[in-house]
Formats: sequence, structure tokens, C-alpha cells
Amino acid sequence: MTLVTKFLGGAVLTAAIAGTSFAASHLDPAVAGAISARKAHMQLYQHNAGTLFAMAQGKVDYDADSASAAASNLATLATLKQQGYWIPGTDQETLGEDTRALAAIWADGSDIGAKADAFVEASAAMNAVAGDGLDALKGAIGAVGGACNECHKSFRGSR
Ligand code: HEC
Repeated sequence: MTLVTKFLGGAVLTAAIAGTSFAASHLDPAVAGAISARKAHMQLYQHNAGTLFAMAQGKVDYDADSASAAASNLATLATLKQQGYWIPGTDQETLGEDTRALAAIWADGSDIGAKADAFVEASAAMNAVAGDGLDALKGAIGAVGGACNECHKSFRGSR
């Protein structure tokens, strides 16, 4: 094998790797783990809030037990300590497609704490009334959805 062939072979291989859409495998395992944990946390928000949204929208019948369970889960999830998986430097601008967390989260003057507090309040208010009937649930759902959206607007990037 000539040197040129060897070189080209290597270049082709490198290009093939660079063109591959990586899963999280190229990331430091601690970073990959933190990103999957925070996404999983969001999925749990989604599942529990989704139960409440579906009832509020009349897509599923209101059921006091299911509504209470979902609201209790959501309120509890909202208060869990999350700093272990929101590691500075693990943003979309730095890491690319593995995460949609924007660097703005960690920037000076970031109000992510206030956005998270608003969500804690909205989910606690929902938890207080979710079992009291569909009207009560509907009265609390706007603030919950609004809190999710407010944070995503500022701190979640596009795909
Ligand atoms: C305080 C900020 C904040 C709040 C409140 C918040 N999110 Fe998120 N959410 C994020 C960020 C940042 C990401 C991007 C995470 C990543 O890709 O690493 C995200 C990602 C997600 C994802 C995608 C998860 C994945 O698997 O990629 C879903 C779904 C989601 N959020 C749902 C919700 C719902 C539903 C609520 C409200 C009930 C909510 N979020 C509240 C900041 C927030």
C-alpha cells in the first residue's frame, strides 16, 4: 500500500465517521448520562402534564383519581433537585444535536431559576385542585402549560 492510498483510506474513514449521526456515544459518559437524565425528567413532566392537558381538552374523560395522581406526580417532580444533570457546558451550542438545552440557561443574568419557580408554583396550585372536578382542573391548567412554554421559549433550542 502506498503512502497516498493509506492517507486517502484514512481520510475516507474519517469522513465516514464524521458523517455518521452519533448517538450519545461520543460524549463523555457522565455528560451523556446527565443529558439522558434531564430528558427523562422532562418526559415524566410530559406524561403527567399530558394526562391533565387531555382531560382539560376533553380528549379523555375527567377522572378525579387519575387527575390527582398526575398532578401529585407533577408537583413532586417539579420540586426534585436537578442540578446534578444540568451541568454547565452541556448546551446545544457546544454539543450539537445531543441536547436542546441552550447556553442561555447558564449565562449571567439567566432567569431559569425564576422560570422553574413559576413552574413549581403552577404545579402546586394544580395539585391542590386537580381532584376537585373538571372545572377546577381547567382553572389551573393554563398556568401549568404556560410555565412549560415560558421556559422552553427562552431555554430550549430547536431540533
Ligand atoms: C425551567 C425550565 C423548564 C420547564 C419549567 C420545563 N421544561 Fe421541558 N425542557 C427544558 C429544557 C432546557 C429542555 C431541553 C433539554 C435537553 O435537550 O437537554 C426541555 C425538554 C423538554 C422535552 C423534550 C425531552 C427529550 O426527551 O428530549 C419535553 C417533552 C419537555 N421538555 C416537556 C416539558 C413539559 C410538559 C413541561 C411542563 C409540564 C416542561 N417541559 C417544563 C426546560 C424546561
